[in-house]
Amino acid sequence: MAMRAEYAGSRPLRGARVSGSLHMTVQTAVLIETLTALGASVRWASCNIFSTQDHAAAAVVVGPHGTPEEPRGVPVFAWKGESLEEYWWCTRQALTWPEGGPQLIVDDGGDATLLVHLGVEYEKAGAVPDPATAGSEEEAVILRLLAGTLREQPRLWTTVARDVIGVSEETTTGVHRLYERERDGTLLFPAINVNDSVTKSKFDNRYGVRHSLVDGINRGTDVLIGGKVAVVCGYGDVGKGCAEALRGQGAKVTVTEVDPICALQAAMDGYPVATLEDMLPTADIVITATGNRDIVRVEHMAAMKHLAIVGNIGHFDNEIDMAGLAGFPGIRRVNIKPQVDQWTFPDGHAVLVLSEGRLLNLGNATGHPSFVMSNSFANQVIAQLELFTRAEEYPVGVHRLPKRLDEKVARLHLSALGARLTKLTKRQADYIGVPVEGPYKPDHYRY
Ligand code: NAI
Repeated sequence: MAMRAEYAGSRPLRGARVSGSLHMTVQTAVLIETLTALGASVRWASCNIFSTQDHAAAAVVVGPHGTPEEPRGVPVFAWKGESLEEYWWCTRQALTWPEGGPQLIVDDGGDATLLVHLGVEYEKAGAVPDPATAGSEEEAVILRLLAGTLREQPRLWTTVARDVIGVSEETTTGVHRLYERERDGTLLFPAINVNDSVTKSKFDNRYGVRHSLVDGINRGTDVLIGGKVAVVCGYGDVGKGCAEALRGQGAKVTVTEVDPICALQAAMDGYPVATLEDMLPTADIVITATGNRDIVRVEHMAAMKHLAIVGNIGHFDNEIDMAGLAGFPGIRRVNIKPQVDQWTFPDGHAVLVLSEGRLLNLGNATGHPSFVMSNSFANQVIAQLELFTRAEEYPVGVHRLPKRLDEKVARLHLSALGARLTKLTKRQADYIGVPVEGPYKPDHYRY
C-alpha cells in the first residue's frame, strides 16, 4: 500500500507488459493489483499445479470494476489442481502477448524463464524437441509443448524473448537456476535475485514457513503434533522455520543436514542432528526443505513407521521420490481427500503423503500470510521498477537489490508491528562508519 501511495501519481510502470509465474494466491492478487496500479499490463500463471486459490484467480480476472459476466481485470491462467499439460499451457499463455512477449517477468522457481530459454535454444539450433529423450514425465510435457510451438509458430520464443528487459526471481531454487545460466553463459536477459534480499529470504522463507508448514499439516491431517517425532531435512532458512514451528507445537524435532555450518547451527539451537536413516524407525513426520533432489527415497518410505506423514516444503516435487513410490511393487494408493494420499506397502504399513510431494504449505493450505508476503512482494515491486526504469544499471547477469532498498522494505513494515526505531546520532554513525540514514551494514553481513 505504501508503494502504491508513493507511485500513484507517477505510475512508473506505465506501458510495461509484465508476465508472472508465481503462486496465484490472495497475496499475489494484491501484488498484481499493485503492478497494475503502477501502470503495468499484466498476465499471470501459477508456478505450481496445486497452489492457486481459485477465488483469488477469479477476483483478479473480474477486476475491481468488472463483473463475472463482464470481466475487466487481468488475464490469469491458473486453477487449483492443474495437470502438468495444463500447467505448462498456462505458463505459455502468461508469456505470450498479442504484442509478442513480456518486457518484465516475475518468476518463482524459474519455470517461466526456463520455458523462454529452452524455446529460444531449440529455435536457434533448429532442432526438434524429442519427448522420448525426456528424463521425467514433466520434461516430456515441456518438450511436447515446445515441439508443438516450433511446428505452429517457429519463431514464437525468439519473439517472446526479444522484448524482455529482465526477470525478478522469488525463490532459492529459481535463483539457483539463474546463477547456473549466468555461469554457463546462457542467460538471455538480466535477472534480479529477490530471494536474497534480506527482507525476503530471512523473513518469508523462515517466518512465513514457520506459520504455513503447520497450517498445511493441520489442514491436511489434523494430527496432534505435540509429542510426535518430527524430522526436518535441511536447516537453511526454510528448514529453520520448519524446525521452530514443529518444536513450538511440542514435537521432538531432529534435523538432517549436509552442510556442517547449518548442522552446527541446528545443534546449537538444541536440535539433535542425525541422518534420515537413523530416524526411520521413530519418525512420525518427515519434512523436506532442502531444494535438493532424492531426499526421501522409496526405500526410506518402505522402512517408515505405519502412517508416518511425509511432506515437502521445498520448491520442486523431486525431494520425495514419488515416481519410485508409485512404481513400488504391490503398492496401493488411496486418496483420502484432495492433496492427501495414503500409500500402503505390501507388508501392510502405510505412509501419508501430502500434496503428491509438492510444496505442502501451498498445496494443503494457503501458503504464507499476507504480512510476510508484503515484505517479499514489496521487493518484487521494487525489482520490477528497477528493471523497467533503470535498465542500464542491470546488464545481463544476476543482481541483488541495493541494501538501502532492503532497509526501506523493513522500515515500511515496522510501524504495523508497533516497533520504534532508535535513531543514530551523527557521532555514533561516524564511530561505526555508516551514514545516519543507512545502509547500516556491509553487503557481506549475514543477519
Ligand atoms: P537454503 O539453501 O537456505 O537451505 C537448504 C538447506 O538444505 C541447505 O542448508 C543445504 O545444506 C541443505 N541440504 C541440501 N541437500 C541436503 C541433503 N541431501 N540432506 C539434508 N540437507 C540438505 O534454501 P532455503 O531458502 O531454505 O530454501 C529451501 C527450498 O524451499 C528451496 O527449494 C526454496 O525455493 C523453497 N522455498 C519454499 C517456500 C515455501 O513457501 N514452500 C518458501 C521459500 C523457499
